[in-house]
Amino acid sequence: MTKVIIINGSPRTEKSNTTFLMTPFIEGMKKAEASVEMIYTKKLKILPCIGCFKCWGETIGECFIQDDMQELYPKLKESDILILATPVYSPLPGEMQNFINRLVPLIDSLLEIRNGRTRTKCHDDVNISKILAVVVGGWWELENLDLVVKIFEEVAETYTIEFSGAIRRPHAHLLRNESDKNKEILQTLEKIGINFVKEGKIDISDLEFVSQPLVDQEEYLERSKRNYLKRKNAQNSIE
Ligand SMILES: Cc1cc2nc3c(=O)[nH]c(=O)nc-3n(C[C@H](O)[C@H](O)[C@H](O)COP(=O)(O)O)c2cc1C
Repeated sequence: MTKVIIINGSPRTEKSNTTFLMTPFIEGMKKAEASVEMIYTKKLKILPCIGCFKCWGETIGECFIQDDMQELYPKLKESDILILATPVYSPLPGEMQNFINRLVPLIDSLLEIRNGRTRTKCHDDVNISKILAVVVGGWWELENLDLVVKIFEEVAETYTIEFSGAIRRPHAHLLRNESDKNKEILQTLEKIGINFVKEGKIDISDLEFVSQPLVDQEEYLERSKRNYLKRKNAQNSIE
């Protein structure tokens, strides 16, 4: 059975757009008989890495910081797939950044150069063979999610784990509106989940379908202006 661990970086936890998008995707992975666990970084105590590198020397593979990462390390090691799901927070929510930095005990200190870049490998007891990114944002354009995707891709490449790509959803809040297009996108997310577990990959056409604009840019700006004026009026009526 494929073991999937999802690290969800949204501070808005269950009510987040990240979770809304993950729900059909998780359903799909479960239909393909994966065991799936989603963990919210916000609900854990994950202190920042202090860069002592004890996990590369004195206590190889072990972080001395006694917080909730200690329970997470064994779960991560036994997972086949790691999914990093997060909203863009220019670029990352703090808890997610702490989590990423605290992955250093999983890797070996023997550095190598591959294609001109410094890389290393995970310790032998780390099973993870794939990393997938799921990134949501509030702004209209797809490109503003690319920096976060690049960060996750860099983590995968540095750790010599296959990067399976990214599910990207700009103006993610609009996916909650009832519409035929949104329904189709949610169905596609479930299909992606099934195929990802069964075949280990995701069709580019499915990824593009999920990322498509839900409104055109002009309408997006018009809605944003309406919301701005509503907030302003509400504020004025209080004053
Ligand atoms: C501090 C902060 C920075 C943000 N920066 C961006 C950004 O650069 N690009 C973007 O598309 N959305 C940005 N957003 C909007 C969130 O990504 C968006 O609201 C997202 O849907 C929240 O997802 P969640 O409900 O899963 O937490 C930012 C939000 C916050 C609070």
